[in-house]
Amino acid sequence: MNRTRRIGVFDSGLGGVSVLKTIHEVLPYENLVYYGDSLHAPYGIKSKEEVFQLSKNITDYFVGLGCKAIVIACNTATSAAVSRLRLLYDIPIIGMEPAVKPAFMYTKGEVAVLATEMTLKEEKFNTLIRELNADQRILKYPAPEWVTCVENHFSDHAYVQNCVDIFLEKNLKNAETIVLGCTHYIFLKPYIENYYKGNIKIFDGNLGTAHQLKHALESLDMLNKERVQRGQIEIFNSKSDDYVDKSYVLLGFNREDL
Ligand code: DGL
Repeated sequence: MNRTRRIGVFDSGLGGVSVLKTIHEVLPYENLVYYGDSLHAPYGIKSKEEVFQLSKNITDYFVGLGCKAIVIACNTATSAAVSRLRLLYDIPIIGMEPAVKPAFMYTKGEVAVLATEMTLKEEKFNTLIRELNADQRILKYPAPEWVTCVENHFSDHAYVQNCVDIFLEKNLKNAETIVLGCTHYIFLKPYIENYYKGNIKIFDGNLGTAHQLKHALESLDMLNKERVQRGQIEIFNSKSDDYVDKSYVLLGFNREDL
């Protein structure tokens, strides 16, 4: 088996770049390929079947590239597609999960979960809440405007801060703990902290997903053993090359350096 094969990572757009970054930190020698489906973003307000089909198309594309594993760097696509995709392909497929478990362990009072409408409505999330016996302490907030904000305006800091401030002022003035259950929202973390002047605890599932990926590859003896140079990262986006550039900026690398 060729362990240098790439790991495919995808999202509805730019949000999953936050997961890509964490995966590269946890598994620096792995070769990664990212597909952002910005042309079809946002996924969160589409039907479950539509999101499944879009996710399947991207998975087929990665399988065609010879990827050894796939990470669905999107909570929404995970809710809509992960179990069906796992039945169709025989490579590891890792999904996202809003980090509600650690948030509940940390918090005595209410926990606000911000995620897309689909993630909050789907069985996967609601089973998790039932298992934690947490229905009474959970506040659910979809924030589709935050997805648009990251997709289209992330480099305009004043615009982004205003977008975050308006939403929090209206919905969540006095939160104690927030779970970011959408990978786009991760890029808004500094702005959220700014709004609460640092008096907020924020959880997300990115590190958990990267560790799950590491564990899956380790247990199948599929980790890249070539450790001479750091892994390559290639990025594609369905919308335009401009979005590929934006992705590299969010990743914090020069396109030419990778
Ligand atoms: N980034 C995706 C997630 O984690 C959702 C964004 C969208 O609605 O497309 O759920």
